[in-house]
Amino acid sequence: MLDSVLRRGQTLDAAAARARNLSPSDHGLAVAIAGEVLRRIPDLDALIDSATRQRLPDDSKARMVLRIALAQKIGLGTPDHALVATALPLVDGGPRRLVHGVLGTLLRRGVPNGDSPQLPPDVEQRWSAAWGETVVEAARRQIAQRPPLDLSFANDSEAQTYADEENGASLAPNHVRLDSSSVTELAGFEAGRWWVQDLAASLPARLIPPDAVDVLDLCAAPGGKTMQLAAAGHRVTAVDSSASRLGRLRENLQRTHLSADLVEADALQWKPGRSFDAILLDAPCSATGTFRRHPEVLYRARPTVIGDNAALQAQLLATASQWLKPSGVLVYSVCSLEPQEGEEVIDRFLAEHSDFSIDAPALPDFAGATRRGWVRILPGLLEAEGGLDGFFMARLVRRP
Ligand SMILES: C[S@@+](CC[C@H](N)C(=O)[O-])C[C@H]1O[C@@H](n2cnc3c(N)ncnc32)[C@H](O)[C@@H]1O
Repeated sequence: MLDSVLRRGQTLDAAAARARNLSPSDHGLAVAIAGEVLRRIPDLDALIDSATRQRLPDDSKARMVLRIALAQKIGLGTPDHALVATALPLVDGGPRRLVHGVLGTLLRRGVPNGDSPQLPPDVEQRWSAAWGETVVEAARRQIAQRPPLDLSFANDSEAQTYADEENGASLAPNHVRLDSSSVTELAGFEAGRWWVQDLAASLPARLIPPDAVDVLDLCAAPGGKTMQLAAAGHRVTAVDSSASRLGRLRENLQRTHLSADLVEADALQWKPGRSFDAILLDAPCSATGTFRRHPEVLYRARPTVIGDNAALQAQLLATASQWLKPSGVLVYSVCSLEPQEGEEVIDRFLAEHSDFSIDAPALPDFAGATRRGWVRILPGLLEAEGGLDGFFMARLVRRP
């Protein structure tokens, strides 16, 4: 799994889905170990380098096996004898003595508790330039922890009842936060009482005016925001270019007894044939805001990837803007912590589209609009309550 993620650029979910030859409990453990490694690579490597005379190549098997062993020690509290006994067979017939020696040295010396691991150096540089050292420090604390589970509900009375029943916290209307546990075993999953959605990810759909009738959800799958819009009573057209992700959207709508018109199309080619009262564009992005659940995003988001995304986002936004009625509302969002994919996309759009302006939204108190009128969710926000994914959103209004 780690090889697929770090060498071939896959997501951990995709790599995990391909590892089918393991029992469910082994599979769960393997995914947890891989996740712990991805949360801590710079720290693990610094430890390893402190105990070797010659620096091991980044992609050597010895380094990867040592990372796996140390991540279990630091992140999962695995006893020393168990991690040594599972690490050494991985290097049988290879650098076994080296791995044994380095591991022995580090375990005798004692490893740090790892509650604030370094992020990859290029990410630390980018985020400290964009957001400052305090935000980077918050992100370090957050990457070490498993985030809580956020559920969205079709209406607030359902959410409040569920929060009481399950001892959850409601931090916004229609929202309940639980300590993380298995989703399918939670009460109400089969009955479709809720869907899983990070609280930050639930904010963009809240910016669509309640009286908008015909709403376009562009880049909609797997549909967290489509369900919010459908539950709020809008007539929703949900467009996505991925057939498999639209399949998940269809299942989600069925399970929650909600409805929307689904369209499989590339938004840059699609011809809607009409205009909409409101449009939500939740654009594809580097997803660096989701680093708490998907730490590998920090390795996949190379500068060229971010630049390519920004170019696509600008095209999607310009295209969507043509389908909006006069006085209509266009919400743009990305689960990215890169200004290139958020603030800069909107700045450029406004410079090129004088018939649009920013309309600062009213959201729950913790998500206030910035001086420029958009909303930026950064690591550190609501930290005591369990934090939020990083997000950017802006509400644009077309002139009458
Ligand atoms: C950030 S995800 C959307 C998440 C979704 N809005 C939700 O709340 O569940 C971005 C989506 O954009 C879709 N996408 C990427 N390029 C697209 C394009 N050119 N046209 C339509 N959809 C596209 C991807 O398939 C992906 O499902």
